[in-house]
Amino acid sequence: MQIYSNKGRVKLLLLLVALLIGLSTLYYTDILVKNLSEREKKQIDLYAKGLRFAISSENSGNMNFLFESIIENNNSIPVILADENSKPVSTKNVFVDSTWTEKQKDRYLQKQIEEMKSQYAPIVVDYPGINLKNYIYYKNSKLLTQLKYYPYIQLVAISVFILISYLAFSYSRRSEQDKVWVGMSKETAHQLGTPLSGLMAWAEILKEDERIKNDGIIVEIEKDINRLATITERFSNIGSLPSYKTEDIYELVSNIIDYLKHRVGRNIEFQVVNHLGKVELQINRALFEWVIENITKNAIDAMGGKGKLTITLSIVNKHTVIDITDSGKGIPQNQFKKVFQPGFTTKQRGWGLGLTLVKRIVEEYHQGKIFVKSSEIGRGTTFRIVL
Ligand SMILES: Nc1ncnc2c1ncn2[C@@H]1O[C@H](COP(=O)(O)OP(=O)(O)O)[C@@H](O)[C@H]1O
Ligand SMILES: [Mg+2]
Repeated sequence: MQIYSNKGRVKLLLLLVALLIGLSTLYYTDILVKNLSEREKKQIDLYAKGLRFAISSENSGNMNFLFESIIENNNSIPVILADENSKPVSTKNVFVDSTWTEKQKDRYLQKQIEEMKSQYAPIVVDYPGINLKNYIYYKNSKLLTQLKYYPYIQLVAISVFILISYLAFSYSRRSEQDKVWVGMSKETAHQLGTPLSGLMAWAEILKEDERIKNDGIIVEIEKDINRLATITERFSNIGSLPSYKTEDIYELVSNIIDYLKHRVGRNIEFQVVNHLGKVELQINRALFEWVIENITKNAIDAMGGKGKLTITLSIVNKHTVIDITDSGKGIPQNQFKKVFQPGFTTKQRGWGLGLTLVKRIVEEYHQGKIFVKSSEIGRGTTFRIVL
């Protein structure tokens, strides 16, 4: 299934494009901010020159023009003109509340001066002739500040939006998958039900027949019918809210191993190691058997008919843990998560649904966890179930 190997790459590509757009937005506004602040600086310089000119020039006609065009027209850049002791002489575009006392106003302006100093060194205006120095403090206009932070706010807003829509989409995809799982299972159980009850009835009739009663055939037929009944029960449990009972895990696992033992070659050695004391676990037996069966079947496949399969039951951190270890071909580290994805298979006749189902049963029907605990290529694999 090609889609699954490409999905990761597509996601990475999308992420890279998003990153590129984000970075270029930041870069572009940074250029804008730089240009604008350059311009603001020039305006302040002109303002300083104007002041100097006003002091030194006798030509007051030009002065009016200067004031109107430069100083009065500055409607955006906050400026404080202060004397040598940082005492404000006049301000422009600095908000001062008219209800403030002198003291409050003073304190506020000093704070403003400090802030301006941290942004730009003040422009010194020294008046030739008289021994007097003034300082022009200024800072970025509100517009410039907004422009500086705007792209960050925008990017955060967009990221949050994308995250929310991603979650919404994957939620709806999940619920759609749920519907398919549940629907298919219900349908399967339903369809199997009718011929199964028919078969059961036929078996009863055959049992009465003198000719085959003692043949042993009927025993085999009943075994297969029971097996079919088990399968039907599994599908019916996946398709509805399953019921839970206290089960003995060791007994459950041993049963499955006994069943499998007779169906695989002699070259596979089975072992069940039980470190559990008395633990009572609420389990849906039909579904949990399916879990163990799927994992052990995979393990047997991975060993290619020869090897050792060990199931260890133990308590780790107060949780019941089932480790299923094989001596098979192993799983590459980068596939530890992938093996649980629907459609992932390395087998020619595989469907890649076994472990997906296992994960679903363990995590959603039993609130447990399942993962590849360890694996080494050519040496074997351990799957761990935590309940
Ligand atoms: N014990 C194991 N050792 C090695 N590979 C495994 C093991 N269990 C699962 N896998 C890998 O995970 C894949 C998916 O398994 P599964 O979901 O059961 O689907 P399928 O058995 O149909 O391939 C397998 O094709 C195999 O590559
Ligand atoms: Mg399988």
